[in-house]
Amino acid sequence: MKTDGNIPAPAVRRLSLYLRQLELLWQDDRQTVSSKELGEALRLTDSQIRKDLAYFGQFGQAGIGYDVLELITTIRRILGTDRTWNILLVGAGNLGSALSAYRGFARKGFRLVAVFDSDPRKIGKPVASNPSLTVQSIEELERTVKQRDIALAINAVPAEAAQDISMRLVKAGIRGLFNFAPVNLDVGADVAVASVDLAVQLEQLSFQVSMTQTIVEAEKAKRPRKRKSRSQTP
Ligand code: NAI
Repeated sequence: MKTDGNIPAPAVRRLSLYLRQLELLWQDDRQTVSSKELGEALRLTDSQIRKDLAYFGQFGQAGIGYDVLELITTIRRILGTDRTWNILLVGAGNLGSALSAYRGFARKGFRLVAVFDSDPRKIGKPVASNPSLTVQSIEELERTVKQRDIALAINAVPAEAAQDISMRLVKAGIRGLFNFAPVNLDVGADVAVASVDLAVQLEQLSFQVSMTQTIVEAEKAKRPRKRKSRSQTP
């Protein structure tokens, strides 16, 4: 596998899309797939797919395409999901509860093994959406990270607590943070941070819709008005 550190982030993001599509094909007993077919399914060009995959090595055979299982295995290795990751969550509130209930993480190799909160009313109680887990006191964080060999954490605490909690997570040994709090975290270059903000995504969506509307209206305004036909004039 080639990894020279100069791989564009969009290419890495698209790997997850390729993987999802390949997994669907594998479920349908498909052994091989061409870059053209993959591209059509994902609305990407086949040359884009070939270019993205070329960052990581040589895959596929001319006239045959890609071996579906081989490519799934390789992409999982590249993404680091060929192993199971123990993950923890801080903040057993509305969002934290919804995330705890999501079975899709486990299917992708992310096993939620611990949930923490600072609210004494929640500590010691089962997570409502996932009763196999009990809400732990944040005081148990450091010990649990070591005991359960946890490297990734989901941060679902209020914005004002997010920076402090993140620093604590990093000190405890967390190397990757999935941040939902609407703040820019400063945790140092050694820790990978992925942030999700649905409100920002909605803003982007509203921008695109507004722009499209503006363009359509501008096009309409440019069009010459239809003249009224004589027969209609009184
Ligand atoms: P919530 O108030 O329902 O839950 C927050 C939980 O964090 C509570 O259980 C609280 O006791 C706990 N908590 C507070 N301080 C803590 C600390 N220092 N240590 C441990 N636990 C602590 O809030 P909700 O709605 O679940 O939102 C959580 C976070 O997620 C907020 O920052 C919110 O802005 C963000 N959010 C982000 C979204 C996104 O699209 N990225 C969508 C929804 C919420």
